[in-house]
Amino acid sequence: MTTIYALHENPEWFPPFAHAFEQEGVEFEEWLLTDGVLDLDATPPEGIFWSRISASSHTRDHGLSKDYARAVLAWLEAHGRRTVNGRRILELEMSKVDQLTALRAAGIETPRTVAAIGRDRVVEAARNFPTPFITKHNQGGKGLGVRKFESHEELAEYVSSDEFEEPQDGITLIQEYIQAAEPIITRVEIVGGEFVYAIQADTARGGFQLCPADACAIDPETGKPIMPPGATIQPEADQQLFSLRQNFNHPIIAKYEEFARRNNLEVCGIEFIETADGRILTYDVNTNTNYNAAVEAEAPRSAPRVLARYLAGIAAPAEPTLL
Ligand SMILES: Nc1ncnc2c1ncn2[C@@H]1O[C@H](COP(=O)(O)OP(=O)(O)O)[C@@H](O)[C@H]1O
Ligand SMILES: [Mg+2]
Repeated sequence: MTTIYALHENPEWFPPFAHAFEQEGVEFEEWLLTDGVLDLDATPPEGIFWSRISASSHTRDHGLSKDYARAVLAWLEAHGRRTVNGRRILELEMSKVDQLTALRAAGIETPRTVAAIGRDRVVEAARNFPTPFITKHNQGGKGLGVRKFESHEELAEYVSSDEFEEPQDGITLIQEYIQAAEPIITRVEIVGGEFVYAIQADTARGGFQLCPADACAIDPETGKPIMPPGATIQPEADQQLFSLRQNFNHPIIAKYEEFARRNNLEVCGIEFIETADGRILTYDVNTNTNYNAAVEAEAPRSAPRVLARYLAGIAAPAEPTLL
């Protein structure tokens, strides 16, 4: 049987996928891309190479993973190996400019965004934005650098202060603040070109730092969760911020499936907000799939299982039926 190689950098994230592979009877091996040695004379093993390198890897002290993965995926693809979310998709993961330009090219509406390359250009980039607006990091994940500003003076003060969070790649985005109809965001999971399910996240309690893996941090003094930036309601301990968005059936699904297909994006979770005036604005493309246990428990089918089955199908394509 062909082995599936899982390229990643976060061992904490892997168990639900290992479990899904085991349940599907798929042979797999993990390649942890934190630091290592790559011999360019070596020939890669036979197999399917699925990459799940994350844009937030540097926050786990894995600042080398992005370039390590670039090198490994280039080597694999040069040898003709089948990658899933390969070299091109790694760039999409690492850059919201890349995501937003690709979404717009596909006719999907995104919030107005201007990129500031360099800290010194942030105030200038925001010049023509009505307030409120937000900042975020181009290389994001976990809500990195997401802050809301009510005035241009407030932004100028922040940028010149010690509080300014340097983005990993030096690029800060200024983005239109989307006024949501309800305090939720929706994330649409697509694996192998097909819609699996949609998740909703509670932004009143979760704010901007919605990471399906992390519970809210607890304040050691009060024993209560710390209110995340952007939250408006105090979250309770063990609060579930994520749930299945029941019966989600919307024309945006077909648009996302088409977007994923055209961009060779085989595993993704795409986020949108519905505005008070009924528009759907898409703002984040995650090149992974959900493994949040609360959502998985409610879902009609498991995203990691769908992924394991999809990868197994690539590894062992069904024999064509002879008529
Ligand atoms: N333009 C926006 N207007 C209002 N809220 C936003 C906007 N962009 C992001 N957010 C909020 O911040 C969160 C994190 O932003 P996102 O772009 O998804 O970055 P990340 O890649 O870090 O997840 C979102 O889930 C949403 O709750
Ligand atoms: Mg996001």
